Amino acid sequence: MWSNGEILHYITTRDRGEEEALFAAARKVREEQYGLDVYFRGLIEFTNHCKNDCFYCGIRRSGPGVERYRLSPARILDCCRVGAGLGFKTFVLQGGEDPWFTDERLLGLVRAIRAEFPDHAITLSLGERSRESYRALFQAGANRYLLRHETANEAHYAALHPPETRLSERKRCLYTLREIGYQVGAGFMVGTPFQTPQCLLEDLRFLQELEPHMVGIGPFIPAAGTPFADQPPGDIHLTLRMVALTRLLLPRVLLPATTALGTLSGDGRERALMAGANVVMPNLSPREVRELYSLYDNKICTGDEAAECVRCMSLRVRASGFVPNLGARGDSLVPGAEGPGKAAAPGEGERAPARIAIPVP
Ligand code: 5AD
Ligand code: FES
Repeated sequence: MWSNGEILHYITTRDRGEEEALFAAARKVREEQYGLDVYFRGLIEFTNHCKNDCFYCGIRRSGPGVERYRLSPARILDCCRVGAGLGFKTFVLQGGEDPWFTDERLLGLVRAIRAEFPDHAITLSLGERSRESYRALFQAGANRYLLRHETANEAHYAALHPPETRLSERKRCLYTLREIGYQVGAGFMVGTPFQTPQCLLEDLRFLQELEPHMVGIGPFIPAAGTPFADQPPGDIHLTLRMVALTRLLLPRVLLPATTALGTLSGDGRERALMAGANVVMPNLSPREVRELYSLYDNKICTGDEAAECVRCMSLRVRASGFVPNLGARGDSLVPGAEGPGKAAAPGEGERAPARIAIPVP
């Protein structure tokens, strides 16, 4: 398999031909595993209140001038109805770590969504919670959980977060979620301050150890009012190489073409699809709150109705030579991802990882 030296070579290469070969190899693996389909997730950003103070994040607790909002459970359910009407089979409920959303409130919400949409996948992205909370939410009907590890290097993690936020705790949450039975999404930012190639290598090695079902990768983009407001954004080429390397090292993961990539570059998401990504997440949040969920500056898709966002994304996917698949739940091929109503077919998920011929340095 890949040595650290080989991985570091592809992390740091400036050779565009070599980069293209990497993308082509990642595309091939993605096609062998998932075909040309691109799965759609309806993203509902339901609260920008957050008790954390991550140095990079535009909705951090001490962010000055952040106008805070939270959608009521009834309103969130309405967003799911709009999404279901548009054909989505997956809802992603994402928010800051907002203490108003107690277990009791969240359980009521998840049960209501599950009762009304028995076949849809419910994905939560609510940050760090207790094992009991994760388990209760799973039992209430949630299937998937997104929690990026952000960086797998201890010292780097400490440079991006205040001392009360710990990498060990983040990792514990990820392993707990897996153990409970969630399809788990980890992930990291590319180009955060103090990041080195070694940090990115450690991100990939950590992912190989965790074996998540999904991996979210996006460039760091500075956010006004944060300690990193004046730092340069992540490099698009490096971000895309990390997407491709993730596809090659973890062939069966679901990989989103992230909004941050689309923000950094007008065709960033299309380029991610060309580098091995196979998921997009159009925004289903009510229009009047979208601008307020500003994790970073100039975030795209803040002015569009959900239907427009879906149309726009479908066109982009098609234009890149892929097939928009809104109507599938799009479960991960990583073992342990058989949701209700989807038993794994014999042999499914057991295809041998592709052998790839890319020029090794
Ligand atoms: N730039 C890019 N991504 C960011 N996130 C938070 N702040 C930023 C930023 N300034 C990402 C984190 C988080 C996800 C929801 O958004 O990786 O996990
Ligand atoms: Fe949201 Fe284009 S994908 S507007």
